[in-house]
Amino acid sequence: MSIIAFQGLTKAYKDVVAVKDLTANVEAGRITGFLGPNGAGKSTALKCLLSLATPTSGTALIRGAKYQDLVNPMKEVGAVIETGGFNPSLSGLKNLRIIAASAGIGDGRALEVLELVDLTDARNKKVKQYSLGMKQRLSLATAILGEPEILVLDEPANGLDPIGIAWLRDFLKKLTANGHSILISSHQLAEMQNTVDDVLIIHKGRLVTEGTMANVVGSGTLEEAFIRSVEASA
Ligand SMILES: Nc1ncnc2c1ncn2[C@@H]1O[C@H](COP(=O)(O)OP(=O)(O)OP(=O)(O)O)[C@@H](O)[C@H]1O
Ligand SMILES: [Mg+2]
Repeated sequence: MSIIAFQGLTKAYKDVVAVKDLTANVEAGRITGFLGPNGAGKSTALKCLLSLATPTSGTALIRGAKYQDLVNPMKEVGAVIETGGFNPSLSGLKNLRIIAASAGIGDGRALEVLELVDLTDARNKKVKQYSLGMKQRLSLATAILGEPEILVLDEPANGLDPIGIAWLRDFLKKLTANGHSILISSHQLAEMQNTVDDVLIIHKGRLVTEGTMANVVGSGTLEEAFIRSVEASA
């Protein structure tokens, strides 16, 4: 069953067409890797999916609806899209409590998710004193605050140390074992090859490859398949 559907999605910024006629599905209960070179249009497509950008034409829907029309978005879809959305003068805990309150999520959940992302010791530190990796963990904590079944993650491993990356890998595996659906963009192809079930590769705004990891990779590596796809569509 498809849980996320891009249908003829196009997004243009003045003279730059960032996403061109993207049609692709994300299946329920699986991890889908959303890959492509710098500037391929991944973040733009994910922003359209999360109603942070308005499509020029086409649609990007979650369970058949626009994100902006979901009744309780944080309980349906968790997102890591940019790490800049926090109040830098407040602690990580305070930031999470404000977001939880605005989404009707109980106060105790903020401490729970901080524990899950290993930020308990830093919970009372101001976010401006957080490192890049700590902000990334706080973004992940925000994404799971509402216990959503769907996660949309734009380069969530960015800034994480090796322990954080290993934690993220186990964390995502556990979520899909529980039936969660995850759409994740990343440039860490070796990591993706070990984590992801399905692959979407875009280049210059267009879908160039889609399939299961096994089909896309064949007997080689994901890096080889990626370079082949991108060069073939250049
Ligand atoms: N707000 C914007 N205004 C104008 N152009 C934009 C805007 N956002 C993105 N673009 C352009 O759209 C194209 C796609 O950018 P996007 O950020 O979606 O790529 P990406 O695949 O996420 O790249 P990366 O791997 O570097 O994160 C690029 O040419 C970029 O310059
Ligand atoms: Mg991006």
